[in-house]
Amino acid sequence: QAPNEENLRSPVCCIMGHVDAGKTKLLDCIQGTNVQESEAGGITQQIGATLIPTDNIRDRTKELKAGAKLKVPGLLVIDTPGHESFVNLRTRGSDLCDIAILVVDIMHGLEPQTIESLNLLKMRNTQFIVALNKVDKLYSWKVSPNAPMVNSIKQQSEDVKSQFDTRVIFQFKEQGLNTELYYKNKNMGETFSIVPTSATTGEGIPDLLLLLVQWAQKTMVEKLTYHDEVQGPIVTNIKALLTPRPMKKYRLKGKYMQHKEIKAAMSIKISAPGLEHAVTGTSLYVVGPNEDLEHVKEKAKGP
Ligand code: GTP
Ligand code: NA
Ligand code: MG
Repeated sequence: QAPNEENLRSPVCCIMGHVDAGKTKLLDCIQGTNVQESEAGGITQQIGATLIPTDNIRDRTKELKAGAKLKVPGLLVIDTPGHESFVNLRTRGSDLCDIAILVVDIMHGLEPQTIESLNLLKMRNTQFIVALNKVDKLYSWKVSPNAPMVNSIKQQSEDVKSQFDTRVIFQFKEQGLNTELYYKNKNMGETFSIVPTSATTGEGIPDLLLLLVQWAQKTMVEKLTYHDEVQGPIVTNIKALLTPRPMKKYRLKGKYMQHKEIKAAMSIKISAPGLEHAVTGTSLYVVGPNEDLEHVKEKAKGP
């Protein structure tokens, strides 16, 4: 099947960065939840995943009047811990994702786990967008709740604006990376985009969401397309059918919801031996009690 823009799966987006940069708070802000305040010591200690449906993204970005259609069914966001002891979870997160958000606290600039995360993303050639977070802490910041940053910035003084692109761009350069404020970036892909955000006031969240979805749609159609062709059928017994909890954190009530039966869903996790090598989006064939396994395998291989 040729890449089909009308039949895309949700991109998987990992949120990474130094401890307390505001990763969980950003997700809370996107979803209207309060996970961060319920965490022990305010520290994330596990990977959490959340599905943000496209309707939510559309609503959140309407002020930006983006002409382009949102074609993905949603964005599957994976929150990771920033504490130095959880490098294994950050590695896992960066392995899973199609695209990432690297959160940087504007008051602190690049910190050790920012750089560690950056290197994990570089190693896998994963595209990411920098959320330059906590801009509301800048001296004399004028708040426009939930506004796109391109609107909010019009309220700010020249002095405040200049703090967006001085230190951090220089620090990324030191790591061998070109970055630029997203609304000035003419060369996305080679130059990484920075979106100033505040997880407290919601400013910049619309810009961040739209940029993520648009970039994924523009550059990952092949990767995000469901494919009909199967290389080699995998024969297995299903142990569990799982789905993300929409708009909630897995970790509050267990990682996944279990189902006895599923008709159609955006992202299903099938727990079964041997599925590590299965390609996301490939077809499933059920072998009934009176069916011949070899016959079903032939069918799975396609015409
Ligand atoms: P770990 O998961 O432990 O690595 O931290 P994190 O990156 O998820 O940061 P978290 O969301 O726990 O936020 C850390 C602290 O910063 C909390 O007290 C938040 O309320 C605060 N915070 C996060 N984002 C913002 C922001 O945009 N503005 C302000 N003023 N505070 C913020
Ligand atoms: Na924290
Ligand atoms: Mg966190």
